[in-house]
Amino acid sequence: MSSYPFLALCVLISAACTWARPATFLQDFRITWSDSHIRQIHRGTAIQLILDQNSGCGFASRKQYMFGRVSMKIKLITGDSAGTVTAFYMNSDTDSVRDELDFEFLGNRSGQPYTVQTNIYAHGKGDREQRVNLWFDPSADFHAYSIIWNHHHIVFYVDDVPIRVYKNNEGRGVPYPRMQPMGVYSTLWEADDWATRGGLEKINWSKAPFYAYYKDFDIEGCPVPGPSGCTSDPRNWWEGRAYQALNAGEARRYRWVRMNHMIYDYCKDNSRFPVTPPECHAGI
Ligand SMILES: *[C@@H]1O[C@H](CO)[C@@H](O)[C@H](O)[C@H]1NC(C)=O
Ligand SMILES: *[C@@H]1O[C@H](CO)[C@@H](O)[C@H](O)[C@H]1NC(C)=O
Repeated sequence: MSSYPFLALCVLISAACTWARPATFLQDFRITWSDSHIRQIHRGTAIQLILDQNSGCGFASRKQYMFGRVSMKIKLITGDSAGTVTAFYMNSDTDSVRDELDFEFLGNRSGQPYTVQTNIYAHGKGDREQRVNLWFDPSADFHAYSIIWNHHHIVFYVDDVPIRVYKNNEGRGVPYPRMQPMGVYSTLWEADDWATRGGLEKINWSKAPFYAYYKDFDIEGCPVPGPSGCTSDPRNWWEGRAYQALNAGEARRYRWVRMNHMIYDYCKDNSRFPVTPPECHAGI
């Protein structure tokens, strides 16, 4: 099917419609690191990432986006994944005033929970790590990992559970990424100098190659360069009322994660930050 009927429909429904789920990985993404370690499967609708002693691998979106939602279903490395890191992130790709929204999945010894680290760089400053232990085995099946980014907040989701919220508190002097577009990236690599228990657990290379799987790539946002006025168009669904704050069910699940699964929060790390960062006061 050609994409024209779809686009025509979009134009009828909303002038702000800028999205179509890609049929294949290569429509929206390109391989940025080690072609030989990314294999397309299921006619290109899913991919297998490979890490072995020769290389890890990575891919990036062909376009950059300004606000929207990115989502992927990922099945992480099974068994002993200690020392591996699978990352899924958005990045402005600028050196000095980088904006970046990170999901990093830190491997673990068999049977122990995977840790998900999130971080946010705004206007070139990061150091906003939080870590949660997942409440399910992310290597047993695919789960959706998403980031919504609009003028009001940034929310990281694991399936339908918000695990992190970063509000736009620019009015209170908290930097917020909203000046530059970001691309969507993913990498699988070896980081056994820090990833698992602070680097104590090394990769067991006799278990290599390690495989992670991705499918259901979904980016809905304003491509940049793209339709003029898109990024500030209030008709974009991700700017709608339902996406300006967590709803009651989401807020409940978010509290549940923070109470039961959060294992590190930079906001509470007084030895690292004797002066509590401003966004930590501004309300969760
Ligand atoms: C690995 O599992 C252990 C034991 O459950 C846990 O303490 C640790 O936070 C997990 N994650 C990492 C990255 O070590
Ligand atoms: C590494 O994996 C091999 C093969 O499964 C196993 O025999 C060995 O005990 C593992 N080493 C560590 C440090 O876990």
